[in-house]
Amino acid sequence: MPYHNIPTIVEETAGIKYYCTCGESAKKPYCDGAHERMNTGKEPKEHIVDEDRRMSICDCGRTSNSPMCDGAHSKM
Ligand code: FES
Repeated sequence: MPYHNIPTIVEETAGIKYYCTCGESAKKPYCDGAHERMNTGKEPKEHIVDEDRRMSICDCGRTSNSPMCDGAHSKM
């Protein structure tokens, strides 16, 4: 799977977001439906963003605080 060993930094806006957890989205960090097309067995992570802010979104697939990066990529 095309996970990357660094988080994706986004200037996020408030609202309900769906972040990719399968690593296959062409619109990372957001889900684009690739998990279904590619039958990955994964589902997007729904997350409510309370206010506009900078976020560090996991792209290694190993965080224990999805969708946020928790530094797990640096322990790989
Ligand atoms: S495209 Fe990856 S979870 Fe939907």
